Amino acid sequence: MKALTVVPLQKGSAELSDVDDPPESDGPILVQTLGVGICGTDIEILSGAYGWAPPGRERLVLGHESLGKVLEAPAGSPVAEGDLVVGIVRRPDPVPCANCAVGEWDFCRNGKYTERGIKEHDGYLSERYRITPDFVVKVDDSLGMLGVLLEPTSVVAKAWEQVERIGERAHWQPKTAVVTGAGPIGLLAALLGVQRGLDVHVLDQMSQGKKPDLVRRLGATYHTGAIEDAVADPDVIVECTGVSSLVLDAMEHVGPNGVVCLTGVSSGGRTVQVDEGSLNRTMVLANEAVVGSVNANRRHYLAGADALAKADRDWLSELVSRRVPIDRWQQALDRQPDDVKVVVEVSEA
Ligand code: BGC
Repeated sequence: MKALTVVPLQKGSAELSDVDDPPESDGPILVQTLGVGICGTDIEILSGAYGWAPPGRERLVLGHESLGKVLEAPAGSPVAEGDLVVGIVRRPDPVPCANCAVGEWDFCRNGKYTERGIKEHDGYLSERYRITPDFVVKVDDSLGMLGVLLEPTSVVAKAWEQVERIGERAHWQPKTAVVTGAGPIGLLAALLGVQRGLDVHVLDQMSQGKKPDLVRRLGATYHTGAIEDAVADPDVIVECTGVSSLVLDAMEHVGPNGVVCLTGVSSGGRTVQVDEGSLNRTMVLANEAVVGSVNANRRHYLAGADALAKADRDWLSELVSRRVPIDRWQQALDRQPDDVKVVVEVSEA
């Protein structure tokens, strides 16, 4: 079968390969892949900066934001033939650590977890894949191809869960939230903020194009300036760019008792002068919390699936801004001005 494979850490190594059928060891549920979303992590892997092949192999099948249709599922499975499903990305470490042992692989303590399409386990960008019942999640049929948004939605569902758990350490009645970045993660974080009844402000650099409109259609406010000019003392800031200067701005401008959730992975190398004492003073005197959030466990996928099921379909379809057939996968990487989420189409339902 066809699969998009890459030699991790080797730039320019990606190719459409002919690979073996999915191994039975991956699970009893057989899924036909419909589409796979491309994100910053895939671009990093393709550029030779990230990723790990499965042990003893040179190439890794790419793809972790999947949507597929069940071809075979044994009786008693949580999904049935014909269901639209998404595969969970991370697998618990084999030890397992205390967190992986209870299904919180997103909080793996020893780093020995694997991730489909990223770390030591083939991804979903192949015509078919196999999976075990615990790692497959059904999406609402009416979402169709939009179900491909579940993986990034699970990541923001986890981020919001973290924010709320921290907020609830005291009386917690948040009103305003800032989201930095109007890419797919930022827009989905804004969607979940609006669904929580918050006054959401999204910051991005683009003053034109579809991003401002997508934010407005959500009922949120779009800004191109600095956090402090957008809204004073937000209760929550979800940082979705990984731009280091914004990370510091977020820490500096979150409101009293506020929570800053960092979801973007920055590249290192940039140093700035920080008045550490003043930052510490502000954070202590205002009970501020900063939390990093990565990946998602099954609970977050289920929360994400609910959030997508409730969301406006027209709005979600604008998020999937471009679809590229697998044979022309390279086109998915040529960024277009109005790209939000680009999906590689693997097969038709
Ligand atoms: C994925 C996460 C993953 C992270 C780090 C992200 O793109 O969405 O599931 O944990 O990359 O590998």
